[in-house]
Amino acid sequence: MSSTTAIVLAAGQGTRMKSALPKVMHHVSGLPIVHFGVTAALDAGCEEVVVVVGHGRQAVEEYLGRTFPRDRVRTVVQEQQRGTGDAARVGLAAVPAQTTRVLVMNGDVPLVGGDDLRAVLGPLEAKQPPGLSFAVCVVEDPTGYGRIVREGGRVVLIREHRDLRDDAERAVREINAGIYAASVALLREALETLVPNNTQGELYLTDIVAFASNAGERVVTVELGADVLAGVNDREQLEQVDRAMSARIVSRWRRAGATVRDGARIEAGVVLEPDVTVEGGVVLRGKTHVHRGATVDVGCVLTGVDVGEGAVVKPYSVGADSRIGPRAQIGPFAHLRPESDVGEEAHVGNFVETKKTRLGRGAKANHLAYLGDGVVGAGANVGAGTIFCNYDGFRKHTTTIGEGAFIGSDSQLVAPVTIGANAYVATGTTVTRDVPPDALAISRVPQTNKEGYAARLRARFKAGESKK
Ligand code: UD1
Ligand code: CA
Repeated sequence: MSSTTAIVLAAGQGTRMKSALPKVMHHVSGLPIVHFGVTAALDAGCEEVVVVVGHGRQAVEEYLGRTFPRDRVRTVVQEQQRGTGDAARVGLAAVPAQTTRVLVMNGDVPLVGGDDLRAVLGPLEAKQPPGLSFAVCVVEDPTGYGRIVREGGRVVLIREHRDLRDDAERAVREINAGIYAASVALLREALETLVPNNTQGELYLTDIVAFASNAGERVVTVELGADVLAGVNDREQLEQVDRAMSARIVSRWRRAGATVRDGARIEAGVVLEPDVTVEGGVVLRGKTHVHRGATVDVGCVLTGVDVGEGAVVKPYSVGADSRIGPRAQIGPFAHLRPESDVGEEAHVGNFVETKKTRLGRGAKANHLAYLGDGVVGAGANVGAGTIFCNYDGFRKHTTTIGEGAFIGSDSQLVAPVTIGANAYVATGTTVTRDVPPDALAISRVPQTNKEGYAARLRARFKAGESKK
């Protein structure tokens, strides 16, 4: 069995991004650019991925370390950015001994998928494999790309845009996509011969094509669609690639049976089940998962939220790292902060903020409330204006409400405190002690009515005014 290792080149600064962040850490569809190349290489069946890092490498190493298994995705440092050929050398030195084939790819082309990489690797699987296989594209405007120079149809070399010799070369619309596959032996030999004889004084990986051709090796090109090749070199291209990625993701979910309206943004890690509806202006991020038949209405922003089957998230609700149970109703204008867990058929209404709070089945907090660090039992009702006073300035405390309890409007529950099952808290109560099950808690100042007082007051004010 042959084993394939991918080398992803990601050490460049990305000068044209004009950023403190290394280019490959800029986000496309909610994930750093480098994520896509690594994922594509793993999807294509590469056993290991070696990512060549340099500029801003701590950020890249940290991200890769916490995102991918360390035994499959490793980094190696290119101390000085001497060109893509030098980067490939650094990468090759870190390739494990049992590797027989190598796939080298630029780390700044996030639209390239596993299928594309597999297509480039494909020719090497043949009984009589070529020495080198690499990806090309035919584009309208080849400006900036390396051109494929052929003689009698045979590829002889790649000429970088800056090094083009004449109008004939400039007119070539077949360009290098920056993805190459070869045996370890051939790549090693080719990289050893590189010299910086170009306008940038760099070691060009692209020169391996001329090497293979001169050595009499067969060189095959695999044509990829121009839409996958788009690289990110500046912010304008970042935006174009992001838009292309979004369109691709949305259309994938539509084909899978979700209604996704125009203007919704679904980022790369999100999952939509069939019969989900996502309205315009919605942004779904992180590991958000919307289960069958659920609706996310206009303008909601959900990050890492699990939306249960048939649940409805009404307009302009915001949620993060939370769970919404089946058939629950959220919003409009609700705010689920991290670790909110809304039970089946529970309601969280307008201007209700929850944090680290679990609502049992069918529990309701329909209007204007703060539920922080709480446990609300099944079927309990939390009235308008209720506040879980969870913070004493030093620590957070828990409010526990039993099943079927009723919390009257404008109550403050001063945590730590427990309201027993089916207990009743009268409107306007400040609860500082536990309330037993089935009890009534009331802490109201008694009301007095002063007969005729309002009329007398009005008369006095009027008299005062007429004196002036
Ligand atoms: C490269 C190709 C060009 C091709 C184009 C396709 C070369 C010389 N040119 O040009 O033929 O048409 O990609 O997108 O390869 N990098 C390093 N270390 C370095 C230099 C670069 O790791 O010393 C990395 C960068 O981070 C980047 C990738 O290599 O991810 C490509 O480098 P870049 O400078 O963007 O090459 P292009 O000019 O786009
Ligand atoms: Ca590039």
